[in-house]
Amino acid sequence: MATIRDVAKLAGVSVATVSRVLNKNGYVNKDTEQKVAKAIEQLNYEPNAVARGLAGKQTGTIALILPDIANPFFPGIARGVEDVAQKHGFTVILCNSDDQGHKEKSYIEMLRKKYVDGIIFASNTLGQDDVEQMNKNNIPLVVLDRAPTSQSCSVIRSRNYKGAKLAVQHLLDIGCKKIAHLYGPQELITAKKRMLGYEESVLHFPWYTPSLMVPGHFKMDGGLAAVKELFAKHPDVDGIFCGNDLMAVGALKGLHQLGVRVPDDVALIGFDGISLTEITQPELSTIAQPNYDMGSLAAKVLIETIESGVKEAKLYELDVELIVRDSTKR
Ligand code: RIB
Repeated sequence: MATIRDVAKLAGVSVATVSRVLNKNGYVNKDTEQKVAKAIEQLNYEPNAVARGLAGKQTGTIALILPDIANPFFPGIARGVEDVAQKHGFTVILCNSDDQGHKEKSYIEMLRKKYVDGIIFASNTLGQDDVEQMNKNNIPLVVLDRAPTSQSCSVIRSRNYKGAKLAVQHLLDIGCKKIAHLYGPQELITAKKRMLGYEESVLHFPWYTPSLMVPGHFKMDGGLAAVKELFAKHPDVDGIFCGNDLMAVGALKGLHQLGVRVPDDVALIGFDGISLTEITQPELSTIAQPNYDMGSLAAKVLIETIESGVKEAKLYELDVELIVRDSTKR
């Protein structure tokens, strides 16, 4: 495989001149540029991405670190990132961290060595010191979804608190008299804001008690177990807001096993807007997040930072949408 030295020799110029032509920086006269281009074509030379990275130039690659690619919410984010990256000539490396801090840190180390041009991170284990360290290493970074708000990089997520209030208000509007909440892991800012939105919507009702909030761990089996725990304590609940759709799907199965009818006995609403909610029986109402738009915006912000060299630290909160289906139609 031809190297940059072979190109320089054939074109009769220095390696530095070839590098200036490749990276379009510094002056090269037209005649020399044409000689180099001809040599590249004749030798079928492909610049080595890692070598370009070592030279501190763009490698044309960005990384996306997601916490759980088995959850149907995240592929929509990846699709949005990939479509924008491709439009700008970037390749995307997808990493799945299982929300495990040590996996995320080893990915960052690997990506730093691979000289990716930037990283999009949907994770809650990234601390402010990690962000500062990546800024020091001059690795452009954008965090999204469950990542904590940061002062030194841009953050993109949905309006989780507002979405939770929307869900609870919808249950109240259809006549629910006692509403419960199945919540996600509270170390995740997304789950925390949804719980807050639920609590602040129901705190003033005489029937409210903290035991109406049950953990479902953002998982289907968690939702199934949580709804049984809930009904053991509160068999008179007639509305449930689940912090994500996977828990709502699990809760639907659990209610069926308990012989509880949805929506006649209990109205049920989720959060995310994954397509699974369209094939359950009954179809599930949900608060849809713009996951594709979150991914595409994250890629746009990151690529602008890479290409301009100007870092921004902005919080983007995207609107969510109430999708009403049979599980809350009374
Ligand atoms: O379903 C997974 C959840 O984790 C989503 O609600 C998303 O916002 C992330 O926080």
